[in-house]
Amino acid sequence: MKVPMLDLNAQYEPLMADIRVALDKVFTEHHYIMGSQVKALEERMQEYLGIKHAIGCASGTDALVLAIKALGIEEGDEVITTPFTFFATASSIWRNHARPVFVDIDPKTFNLDPARIEAAITPRTKAIMPVHLFGQCADMEAIMAIATKHNLKVIEDNAQGIGSTWNGKMSCSFGDIGTLSFFPSKNLGAMGDAGMCLTNDDEMAANLRQLRVHGENPKYYHKWVGLNSRLDTMQAAVLLVKLEALAAWSEARRANAAYYNEHLAGIEDLTTPYIDPKAVSIYNQYTLVTSPSGRADEASARQRHRLRGILSPASASARMLQRIGIQRRGSAHLGSHGSKSAFHPHLSRINAGNERLRGRIHKRVLPLRRSMCTI
Ligand SMILES: Cc1ncc(COP(=O)(O)O)c(C=O)c1O
Repeated sequence: MKVPMLDLNAQYEPLMADIRVALDKVFTEHHYIMGSQVKALEERMQEYLGIKHAIGCASGTDALVLAIKALGIEEGDEVITTPFTFFATASSIWRNHARPVFVDIDPKTFNLDPARIEAAITPRTKAIMPVHLFGQCADMEAIMAIATKHNLKVIEDNAQGIGSTWNGKMSCSFGDIGTLSFFPSKNLGAMGDAGMCLTNDDEMAANLRQLRVHGENPKYYHKWVGLNSRLDTMQAAVLLVKLEALAAWSEARRANAAYYNEHLAGIEDLTTPYIDPKAVSIYNQYTLVTSPSGRADEASARQRHRLRGILSPASASARMLQRIGIQRRGSAHLGSHGSKSAFHPHLSRINAGNERLRGRIHKRVLPLRRSMCTI
């Protein structure tokens, strides 16, 4: 059974007719910049997430850059964030001439560990930027309590977690501003780049709307030097169609994750994802953790060297893992919790009755794991 890393055709085919009609409307209306579909998507997203303002922009990265600007974070300010994320989280802080301050993750959830945040707060700290990694919302109650205590702003980088919840509350609705990415591999993916900021704060919403059009308001008056970062009308048209299917897709991902959990259980030194009882994950990625022996002797060093070889993308073993739908996750950093390697089989349509998957994983992963251990 082939488990592709990402099967966009499975998403596209059932919606193809509707997407083509929606795009055709854009082609005949010719409102390519901020057409009616952008406003319609923003309104629909407000409804879907239960957040007062949705402001579309050109990408998830721009959404972060805009959010930092809108909050008035500037040169010399510090923003506490996680090191275990995509580059854009920290680069968006740097792009605003502020300084990312890394706080380690909770090794079970991979999300920013609230217990470590206070030690990193200095007089220059202006904000905390948690990431809802792999689709699981960070512990936002604990993070908001710290932010309130220290009068800090909070930006939720929710590029990977649209629709995830913490204690029944929607991600993006806890902090001052939440951001989304509609990169094609996200649960709600466009057919190109797109992103969005979400906020319940009227003033922040006004700032963000202005900042995405060069800081302009009214026309030709520029209060700030903003960005040219509008959500493309064609992408909005596609996203409006896909949004209607999102809840069902997330449900299907959870069912697939449960299937993987059941069938990967009991494999030695393979940890399936931990989802906090307060969280409902949307499983943007399903991430497995395995670890080399922690012994610091010569054999162990050789073992680690060999493990690196086995996991390098060029290696035959990695190709073998890819064939069964498991890919190495680049440079998994688990801070002080030791060096581990995480893999993420992309969730794909798997027939729950298909026992062959388990058989293949046993046949292919287990010999590999053994070869890692016997040097
Ligand atoms: C955690 C995180 N933040 C930010 C981004 C940036 O989003 P985009 O690729 O839409 O710019 C991504 C995208 O992969 C992401 O995963």
